[in-house]
Amino acid sequence: MNQLEEIKSKIDIVEFISEFVPLKKAGRNFKAICPFHTEKTPSFIVSPERQIWHCFGCGRGGDIFGFLMEIERIEFGEALRILAKRAGVVLESYRPTGVEAEKEKILAINSLAAEFYHYLLLNHQIGKRALEYAYRRGMTKESLERFKVGYAPPMWDGLQKFLIGRKGYSVGDLDKAGLVVQSSKFKVQSYYDRFRDRLMFPLSDHRGNVVGFAGRLLDPNAKEAKYVNTPETLVYHKSELLYPLQITKEEIKKENSVVVVEGEIDAISCYQVGVKNVVAIKGSALTEAQSRLLKRFAENVVLSLDSDAAGDAAMRRGIEIASNLGLNVKVAVLEKYKDPDEAAQKEPDYLKEKIAQAEGVYDFYIDSAFKRFGGRTPEEKRKIGQELVPIWARIEDEILKDVYVKRLAERLGVSEESIILQMEKVKDRFLSGAKKETTSQQKKERRDLLEEYLLSLIFQAKKTELLLEEEWVSLFVLPINKRIIEALRKFLSEKKKFSSKFFFRELPAELKEAFDHFYLTDFGEQIEDEEWVEKELKKIQKHLRIMATREELERLSLELRKRGEDEKIAEQISKLTRELKELESFSR
Ligand code: CTP
Ligand code: MN
Repeated sequence: MNQLEEIKSKIDIVEFISEFVPLKKAGRNFKAICPFHTEKTPSFIVSPERQIWHCFGCGRGGDIFGFLMEIERIEFGEALRILAKRAGVVLESYRPTGVEAEKEKILAINSLAAEFYHYLLLNHQIGKRALEYAYRRGMTKESLERFKVGYAPPMWDGLQKFLIGRKGYSVGDLDKAGLVVQSSKFKVQSYYDRFRDRLMFPLSDHRGNVVGFAGRLLDPNAKEAKYVNTPETLVYHKSELLYPLQITKEEIKKENSVVVVEGEIDAISCYQVGVKNVVAIKGSALTEAQSRLLKRFAENVVLSLDSDAAGDAAMRRGIEIASNLGLNVKVAVLEKYKDPDEAAQKEPDYLKEKIAQAEGVYDFYIDSAFKRFGGRTPEEKRKIGQELVPIWARIEDEILKDVYVKRLAERLGVSEESIILQMEKVKDRFLSGAKKETTSQQKKERRDLLEEYLLSLIFQAKKTELLLEEEWVSLFVLPINKRIIEALRKFLSEKKKFSSKFFFRELPAELKEAFDHFYLTDFGEQIEDEEWVEKELKKIQKHLRIMATREELERLSLELRKRGEDEKIAEQISKLTRELKELESFSR
């Protein structure tokens, strides 16, 4: 056994994937809503027998390594190391590929830079002004340490002196980490530190790797941007970052709820007053990638963004994105203060109360629309209706819908009927425009499906001995299935007893994927029911025979047309037609 196989044999895929997605038993397999694409009905299947996963919606699939790489967005080498550690396997040799090595270098550089900035803030004379600023903003020493807040010195090359001069990195390395900016002023290529004279917040991914930085100005009158951030790099992707999830994720899991705020300082202030299940999205709307990440830790989201027009728009956008992913979203609007930071500093109890009593999104939608449109004149009312009715029409729960139709009618001073009528109109519109979820499954031809279904049934019900009988083997036409059956017969003649694991190992590479698919078909509980399996086998056998007969008839009719009169063919056709009738009469 090589090391990869050893690791796989020591980690059960069902147990492993369960830590990321709630799996439900479905017959021999397990099912879930796919974590990699948006869907309402589960098409993500895990097969314990084959130790694989596959999504019939988006087509992704693989083993534990592939799953971890996909869900954590990491390279193979990192997945290998994580899983080896978990399995207790000591890796003999592993050389990272180019991209992996580069990512690792960036992370190492970032981590050193964070230490450097942090040291300057807390221990160096040069950081004194910044430290005073941080204290003035209400951050405690404990917070500064916990979140490793730092200070970038007001020099063009402070960080470069440290990382290049003392640690031996190259300016190219720093560039890849986004820590320096190429200067266009001089003919000779030169670089200066991106972050200068700023309070520094290291931005980590949820596993604690420092992927980038946000730096805040100290001087409120300075003309530069209030925040400077790391640009997109190999490891920093703004749309995926949630600050400081590496610290708050445990609390988020425990509470099954996460409070989403805008800025780094909002998050720190919330944490300090005891709202520890918090993350910041850095001033943009909650993205789909961020929502997916959050969904791994909690089902409930409380959005508490700034109390300005931008915050309001970001809330509405965030509600839609998070709800679409199946998260349960609520909203905490802090009318009295401009943002959660201010509320936490001035009135922590108010903040906590607002979060505890977060309102449902529909009340928020109403308030937000009235705030923006007024709602007094007929035209203003029409605008509010235009915005809210499409949202109302999509409320799935009828009772909830009724409650909010009443509430909206009341606020607008119109009849409930007018809202219901308007809802019908938009519903027709989006139903006619709605595209059905097409899955890879639906695109397959009927014969492919039937053959695959039958082989799935045979393998999952452990009926491989059937494939030694001509009566069954002759049902299959597709070359790939015929080759798998051939390989199976060879295997059985040598080994006697079937084992999916050993069979898989001997299978030629090009057949492996197709074989794995047989273990992903979902039969539900019935697969355990011997009687059902027998009946189902017979049924599919009949279907395939009918199909073969029809195909043969089609071929013969073509032939007949080509040749003109031909008694032999005509005879065959009438014989097959009789057979087909007989078969079809039995299949009812
Ligand atoms: N932001 C940014 N670039 C800017 C402005 C803001 O990346 N030029 C991000 C920062 O992450 C910031 C967040 O958006 O924390 C929210 O911006 P804002 O509300 O303007 O800042 P505050 O969080 O209120 O920051 P502060 O309290 O320090 O003024
Ligand atoms: Mn603020």
